[in-house]
Amino acid sequence: MLNKVAVVGAGNVGATAAQRLAEKHLAREVIMIDVAEGIPQGKALDQWQSGPIEGFDARVRGSQGYDEARDAEVFVVTAGIARKPGMSRDDLVRTNAGIVKSVAENIARVAPKSIIIVVSNPLDVMCYVAMKASGFPRERVLGMAGVLDTARYRMFLAEAMDVSVEDIQAMVLGGHGDTMVPLISYTTVSGIPVTQLLAEEKLRPIVDRTRNGGAEIVAFLKTGSAYYAPSAAAVQMVEAIALDKKRILPCSAWLTGEYGLRDVFCGVPCKLGRAGLERIVEVTLTDAERAELHKSAEAVRETQRAVDAA
Ligand code: NAI
Ligand code: 2OP
Repeated sequence: MLNKVAVVGAGNVGATAAQRLAEKHLAREVIMIDVAEGIPQGKALDQWQSGPIEGFDARVRGSQGYDEARDAEVFVVTAGIARKPGMSRDDLVRTNAGIVKSVAENIARVAPKSIIIVVSNPLDVMCYVAMKASGFPRERVLGMAGVLDTARYRMFLAEAMDVSVEDIQAMVLGGHGDTMVPLISYTTVSGIPVTQLLAEEKLRPIVDRTRNGGAEIVAFLKTGSAYYAPSAAAVQMVEAIALDKKRILPCSAWLTGEYGLRDVFCGVPCKLGRAGLERIVEVTLTDAERAELHKSAEAVRETQRAVDAA
């Protein structure tokens, strides 16, 4: 168990993540920080009071500033604006880059040894902003997207094959956007290659639906984007770190030559433990998957450049 985890942004994703962190006993203190006056305090008090019912002892606190989060071991950054219908994740870039920059500077000030898990969109580019602004090494700045995208892919596959989602092993790599790369060659059902169980014409629409997974929910909600699965995904990453589980999860990480890519954040298989990113696992990809991964990374790189130029 960690001493303190802080969630920055007490909106839909952040508040739900805070509740999940407390319920999973991952930290003694869960701090929610938000610029909206009273919101993190009110939500934190409410969540804390669910402890006797849910059986957790974590102290959940809310704050406008960062002093409460001093020396937190892990920060989950969800601050920013979310997508509305018709908006792409990249439309968020300008506003959220400014927000994430100031958040990361504050984190570096109060908790210079912490690990940052970025959730704010556009995800991979916000990781870049957070790494630059915090000055942290790549081991301590990771992005949550692949766990979510993979969960959506696994769920759609489980439904199509009428099998338990627990038996679907899969990995979605690449940037968190329309160019993400669900790896069909590594998708198995209890070890059986998915292509033996599901025909190509059934598999392709699932890949497309996965790529469109966030937008499908935005189209329903209209005033915001998904948060139950995203918060669960971010908390799974915190859990891997808090419990030093050495899990291999698809996360956005700063690449320094892996997969033939350099100086770009992109979703790749990452080993997560108490030190944060402990290793990037390089697997053999088909030529088509490798080309798709490079295309996806180049789309991220273009927005990284736009952020640098702004
Ligand atoms: P939300 O609008 O419900 O919450 C965002 C919160 O951030 C608000 O409470 C706002 O007051 C706060 N905030 C704004 N500026 C801040 C600052 N400087 N410091 C602290 N807090 C600040 O949005 P939601 O649904 O929670 O989404 C949050 C972000 O996460 C969005 O950018 C969204 O696109 C992204 N997201 C990313 C996912 C992923 O897979 N990486 C999945 C789902 C959402
Ligand atoms: C999602 O994939 C909006 O990025 C967010 O749901």
